[in-house]
Amino acid sequence: MRVPATIPLLLTLATGSVVAQEADPAAGKQLVTNNCTECHGTDIYTREERRVTTRPGLTKQVRRCEQALGLTWFDEDVENAAEFLNRSYYHFGK
Ligand code: HEC
Repeated sequence: MRVPATIPLLLTLATGSVVAQEADPAAGKQLVTNNCTECHGTDIYTREERRVTTRPGLTKQVRRCEQALGLTWFDEDVENAAEFLNRSYYHFGK
């Protein structure tokens, strides 16, 4: 039986869970480059006293800044942006 492609997406939305392995850092890079350079540059991600100290904390901070901006990103967008920042700057383990 063929499973419609929309079902996994609906399940993700229903449970609110984000599957980290499916994060797309290239898409996240686009989002960050296009939306996140107004208040701070990338130097904030590598500053000495940086605020984010865990991988889940990184997702939370991205969400916080995204909401402060009044954007309406999906969980998936937040996760992609967080994963891009993690791979490029934070380097937390999974
Ligand atoms: C309205 C201004 C503003 C915009 C736009 C903004 N940020 Fe921020 N961001 C801040 C401020 C202010 C801080 C520092 C908070 C602190 O020091 O307590 C911060 C801190 C952060 C940090 C934590 C840095 C650290 O110390 O580890 C991350 C990650 C981050 N922002 C991601 C983003 C992302 C992703 C976007 C785009 C969705 C974004 N920001 C857009 C204001 C902004």
